[in-house]
Amino acid sequence: MTTATTFVPTVAEATKAGFFPIRHEVEIVDNRELTDGVYRLTFRDEYIADHAKPAQFVDVYSNDRTRLMPRPFGVAEVNGDEVSLMFAVVGKGTAEFAELKPGDTIRVMGPLGNSFKTKEPANYVLVAGGLGVPPLVRAAQCIADAGNNAKSTAVFGYRNMHFGDDYVGRYADKVYSIDESEGNVITLLDRIEGELRDDELKPVILSCGPLPMMKAVAEWAAKRGIETQLSLEQRMGCGYGTCVLCTVDTTEGRLKVCSDGPVFTRERLGWGE
Ligand SMILES: Cc1cc2nc3c(=O)[nH]c(=O)nc-3n(C[C@H](O)[C@H](O)[C@H](O)COP(=O)(O)OP(=O)(O)OC[C@H]3O[C@@H](n4cnc5c(N)ncnc54)[C@H](O)[C@@H]3O)c2cc1C
Ligand code: FES
Repeated sequence: MTTATTFVPTVAEATKAGFFPIRHEVEIVDNRELTDGVYRLTFRDEYIADHAKPAQFVDVYSNDRTRLMPRPFGVAEVNGDEVSLMFAVVGKGTAEFAELKPGDTIRVMGPLGNSFKTKEPANYVLVAGGLGVPPLVRAAQCIADAGNNAKSTAVFGYRNMHFGDDYVGRYADKVYSIDESEGNVITLLDRIEGELRDDELKPVILSCGPLPMMKAVAEWAAKRGIETQLSLEQRMGCGYGTCVLCTVDTTEGRLKVCSDGPVFTRERLGWGE
């Protein structure tokens, strides 16, 4: 009897074949629990580190081959050739990833999807709720690294522990955060509205988090005429546009969150009009 093996090309082989991003194996360098059930997983991957723009995501494949579908996670931070994700344990896939140890390997594909646009001079207001935090840490990092006439203000809402503040604080010019006992991100936006209005740079909102939160943010921004880009989280299959599992209603019809998004403007979604 012969045993079936799966061919997993190296990054060099895949790049040479002209087909990248492709599913490939990476080595875990760190995995730590930030707060109850929320982890920061770091792996080494030069290609993803070089190419991951804010809000782009990585598909992570289970080492249990009975779980076929990859799990998508926004890139949270890049340091040299190390890529960090932050995730909450919500099911079997994330429970497995929480057990990964340095030296273990896992298959990934990415970076996938479009990204927040952060090139123009602006005060980027990074509004996140819960596990919407990771892509906005990456946004703060990219804005700081670009070193042009732009800055960022983080506005984060948590259920309880403020697990992302230290990370975004490395890059953002200001960090405001709140937990459920004190209010929500709209409470914070109301509090800092005057400050945003007085700033010489125009505010542009970048947001990721639970759907009701993002709809409330879109509405808040629409009333004030503030440009807004929203990164959606939708249940996904393939992650690159072929299975049509991840569609969302937009003003242009049904679009795919994985390949047309995950970032959409509020006008494109028809939110807050
Ligand atoms: C573009 C994108 C970026 C994401 N980034 C992050 C991130 O940075 N950190 C993070 O913790 N999570 C993120 N998610 C959600 C993450 O992919 C899911 O939590 C994960 O796939 C669940 O896998 P599981 O096997 O543990 O759970 P499952 O057993 O598959 O599901 C458990 C629960 O999670 C919900 N769920 C499953 N998939 C998704 C999904 N794609 N979006 C929302 N809810 C889902 C299910 O409805 C169910 O209630 C992202 C999702 C998308 C689409
Ligand atoms: S996840 Fe397959 S088309 Fe989007």
